[in-house]
Amino acid sequence: MEKIINGKEISKKIKEEIKKEVGGFPSKPSLVVIQVGNDEASNIYINTKKKACIEVGIKVYHLKYNENVAEEFLIEKIKKLNNDQKIDGILLQLPLPQNLNATKIIKHIDPSKDVDGLTSANIGKLMNNSNGLIPCTPLGIMELLKAYDVKIEGKHVVIVGRSTLIGKPLISLFLNNNATITICHSKTKNLSEYTKQADILVVAVGKKHLINRNMIKEGVIIIDVGINRVANKLYGDVDFSNVLDKVSLITPVPGGVGPMTVTMLLKNVVNCYKKRHHSE
Ligand SMILES: NC(=O)c1ccc[n+]([C@@H]2O[C@H](COP(=O)([O-])OP(=O)(O)OC[C@H]3O[C@@H](n4cnc5c(N)ncnc54)[C@H](OP(=O)(O)O)[C@@H]3O)[C@@H](O)[C@H]2O)c1
Repeated sequence: MEKIINGKEISKKIKEEIKKEVGGFPSKPSLVVIQVGNDEASNIYINTKKKACIEVGIKVYHLKYNENVAEEFLIEKIKKLNNDQKIDGILLQLPLPQNLNATKIIKHIDPSKDVDGLTSANIGKLMNNSNGLIPCTPLGIMELLKAYDVKIEGKHVVIVGRSTLIGKPLISLFLNNNATITICHSKTKNLSEYTKQADILVVAVGKKHLINRNMIKEGVIIIDVGINRVANKLYGDVDFSNVLDKVSLITPVPGGVGPMTVTMLLKNVVNCYKKRHHSE
């Protein structure tokens, strides 16, 4: 059986389904991406997101502000977008420059337009296992596992990294699927003691090749979320070639989780559109 999870292929299939569905809508769903500053990685991610939106028929507006923009200005802008009937989704591209407080700004996004699933209302819904918007990367990971028919119930899932964007939402997603969860972070002592126990190991840290073959058990499924750019080449948090013969499934970097993140954004925008138009 093929061991390498093909995120590109699965994401292509889902995008085709989305495109077909959007083609049947009476109007185009729309997304606003708010960018502050000129972070190089953000520029790349936003371009990828814009391209994907256009590909499936989603209208995308890119608002780019100088890094000296005031927090109050961004909050007012968000409030206007919340009330704009033409807008279905609002995405604040992270990270923000250090002078701005992302949590404070995100709080003002209408939860029904919060395509990144980062407002407290959506985080709460995820914890309650009720129908809210789920952050794109964790949602993409669950879709990948589904596509490869991975049974989650009863598995021991070890997550390395506890960010609001990835690690924390994954706790609820796996728990809602009846897994047993261990979550590790920078203060965890003897990391390999935990990673070795994993049936499914998710690594979202941002440290090239943090995980090697001595830290995993035979037959583990590895989801490598890390993106580490070194000399213009991308690496994951897992030493891919070093672990390959020991795993039963693994996501490559690039071409694993990354493409799914963008595709789940499209899915979230379409869900926002459907909910708004259904309730009108
Ligand atoms: N593939 C995709 O689509 C996608 C999307 C988003 C992000 N990413 C990538 O995923 C990675 C993580 O992103 P993020 O936004 O979650 O990063 P983040 O906010 O910096 O969080 C990193 C997490 O890793 C933990 N950590 C740091 N060093 C560690 C160590 N030595 N051992 C164990 N845990 C350690 C941190 O612990 P503390 O909490 O204790 O500090 C933190 O919880 C990055 O490489 C990012 O580029 C990929």
